[in-house]
Amino acid sequence: MFLGKRHASAGPIDYDVYRREQRHDEAVLSFMSKRVGVPKLSIRLESEAEVAPVESTQVSIEELDAGGSALDAVGIARMVAPLAVTDFYTEQYRRPRPLVFRGTDDRFAGLITWDGLNDAICNRNLRPPQLHVIMDGVEVGNDLFQVDNLGLGTRQPGPFVSRVDGRKLANFLRSGATFIANAIHDYHAPIRQLAEEIEQGLATYVNVNLYASWRSTRGFATHWDDHDVYIIQAVGEKEWHLFGETRNLPTTLDNRPNVERPDEPVWSGKLTSGDVLYVPRGWWHDARVDQADDGKGSIHLTLNTRPITGTWVLRWLENKLLDHEVFRQNTPLAADEASRRDYFERLVELIREQLVADVGDRFASDIRASWTEATRTSLSTYIEPWKSPLWRSFRLSLKGRRHAAMETCPAKGSFVLRANGMEREFDLRCLDLMRALAGAESLSVEEFKGVCRGRFSDEFIDDFLKQLIKDDAVLAIHPSAP
Ligand SMILES: [Fe+2]
Repeated sequence: MFLGKRHASAGPIDYDVYRREQRHDEAVLSFMSKRVGVPKLSIRLESEAEVAPVESTQVSIEELDAGGSALDAVGIARMVAPLAVTDFYTEQYRRPRPLVFRGTDDRFAGLITWDGLNDAICNRNLRPPQLHVIMDGVEVGNDLFQVDNLGLGTRQPGPFVSRVDGRKLANFLRSGATFIANAIHDYHAPIRQLAEEIEQGLATYVNVNLYASWRSTRGFATHWDDHDVYIIQAVGEKEWHLFGETRNLPTTLDNRPNVERPDEPVWSGKLTSGDVLYVPRGWWHDARVDQADDGKGSIHLTLNTRPITGTWVLRWLENKLLDHEVFRQNTPLAADEASRRDYFERLVELIREQLVADVGDRFASDIRASWTEATRTSLSTYIEPWKSPLWRSFRLSLKGRRHAAMETCPAKGSFVLRANGMEREFDLRCLDLMRALAGAESLSVEEFKGVCRGRFSDEFIDDFLKQLIKDDAVLAIHPSAP
């Protein structure tokens, strides 16, 4: 395993934060207090009379015109146009702040439509835990809008798979409930494509949740998220409120609780279809359909990228330092002073060795190489494709190719490939073979064999590919696959 830990999912989703804050404030406080090792304590230094009343301060949120460039943009550039992606992230690093990107109606055309949502519900059997219905801030029990497949008339009695009862669901939504489809990128192709484009560009994981509501009720409680959020208004209109932040850049596993909700919004504004609202981590927010639009449906998507923070650098460093015996050794707390001093001097020296000028590049390279394509499959008649009569026409694709890194170790006569969340060591004589795989989106077995014809036998290359395929480093794609 490359980075020591595999992080299979993106950060907690909006709904989790909502639920935690609605129902478990005390539990969170208690947990956080234990975490920092002190009881919750409030110390006032001034009398009530000396404290100035808190005034609601409106802030100005910059609005940018996405313009026509957003229509052709790919990945995160589609969200932040007209800004260049690097400029956007540089600015947010220096001063995190919300931004509104105004776009035309067709900016996200086809990303999600009412038909697409109905398709997810009816044909892909969207149901809990992906589907949630929230009414008056409380989750509606599954059994109140689901039925077993018996009685729907669409299927024969069989395994009991619950499905949404359209009539009951519509009744809740007419009464003011909000419909939430979590991780919709998993089961709706246009959104999956957008998520994959962003993942490939940024080498991080993306999660997209969908919210649909019709009534002028607040769909979720005022909350903050532990990740940056790009809110895409896909259909209709919605009124958003930002309340500022009460702790800069909080995280879910923070060492301080962040549960004091501000009372008044510092910004309110309406998003219409084609608009994006960027909300930095930690900014309290909520939304509702405007009174004037009551009864008209709104769909918005919340897209978030997994945050990579300074604690990741420490985790990465820890993994590298474990190569050294002294970091695996017991800390000599009860030994004599000279031993303790010697021990800590050795630790500091090894840490310093890692923290040289190129540490940022090495960390970035390793983070990118940890990006995996674990769920990418290419099933066909032959589970062992080299046994197929079409084997020479199969196409080969190196998993995690876009973020792969190779490093040669001439002294050991080897090179290391870091890709798809794995680190693999190869004989240096195979370097050209690996470069060929890494250099092309895909190439056929026949083309691959032509790379070093004369240097390797057909049998050797077949064995080489078998190992890579079995080890999930390479995907063999049937020639008839699109
Ligand atoms: Fe949120």
